[in-house]
Amino acid sequence: MRLVPVLLALTSLIWSASATPLLAKRASRTSPPSGAVVVRQSGTQSGEFSTVQAAINSLDSTSSKTIFIFPGTYNEQVSITRTGPLTIMGSTTNTADQKANSVTIQHSLSAAAAGSDDASGTFRVHKDNLKLYNVNIKNTFGQGSQAIALSAYGEDLGFYAVGLYGYQDTLLANEGHQFYGSCYIEGAVDYIFGQHARIFIHKSTIASVGAGAITADGPTSASDNSLFVIDSSSVIQSSAATSSLTGKVFLGRPWQQWARVAFVNTNLDSLINSAGWEEWSASMPNTEDVEFVEVNNSGPGSEGTRPSFAQQLDSDAGFTAADVLGDDWTSWVDQQYV
Ligand SMILES: *[C@@H]1O[C@H](CO)[C@@H](O)[C@H](O)[C@H]1NC(C)=O
Repeated sequence: MRLVPVLLALTSLIWSASATPLLAKRASRTSPPSGAVVVRQSGTQSGEFSTVQAAINSLDSTSSKTIFIFPGTYNEQVSITRTGPLTIMGSTTNTADQKANSVTIQHSLSAAAAGSDDASGTFRVHKDNLKLYNVNIKNTFGQGSQAIALSAYGEDLGFYAVGLYGYQDTLLANEGHQFYGSCYIEGAVDYIFGQHARIFIHKSTIASVGAGAITADGPTSASDNSLFVIDSSSVIQSSAATSSLTGKVFLGRPWQQWARVAFVNTNLDSLINSAGWEEWSASMPNTEDVEFVEVNNSGPGSEGTRPSFAQQLDSDAGFTAADVLGDDWTSWVDQQYV
């Protein structure tokens, strides 16, 4: 008779110990977890910060920290270089759904004005071990120059229900292993690009807002193992597009001749041109050594005659999360978003 309460107590102990670090997938999270550093734009209280950058600047360099951001549009450029593990969470009524995000960080800066792609980034990550949840990041510069929303350099970077908005070169995924789960990524030209990173974009929406190539991978040599995989996702025309993009969008073009990109188990809407992929340019095709792969995609954009430098494969071998991110990927990717 006494065994039942003991067992119950034991079960709840085990549950709370194992459940604490993970988020319940469809839960809301509208108040700060205990111990979090708090960002609140309006009605900032004692001990809180009114900007994201001020909260980051308050942290020591090495310990593990969490920042919680209350709803609002934060007009600032954010740069993170501290070495300690960092989790940043936006307030949301549904952690699983990017559309429910209530926190936006935005800034308008072109690469031409900033001096480099990275320097133009609204949110710049130069560190390992970052988890970012339920935040929208926008570079509002618009057309006319590269203008990066997220610039990501680092090992074991996880982005969960994050929205990235730009026009040319929205996401600079440049170094390290990076996971994007349930994200929304919008742009027109080369809007998922970088040189050395291995990235796995999973259960996400890729939305074109203008004509052009979605990806531009630019490994700098044959031994540079950069790889972009878009898996179990949807490629659509953004509702913000001002004219029909039917047939005007390509899965990728090679920034360098060793570009390596795969779309796997993904629905490709009619915006995708029947050729699927394109050369970098007529004078510099860069197609000699590319690995442009499609596996088991669906939708009207998955049909058509592809160029000889692209491949349609039957198996996703080489393009799974473990292949892209390494066998230890489950130790740092939040499995609620897999
Ligand atoms: C192929 O894609 C469909 C969705 O269109 C999915 O149901 C199926 O499991 C995929 N097959 C493999 C082998 O992954």
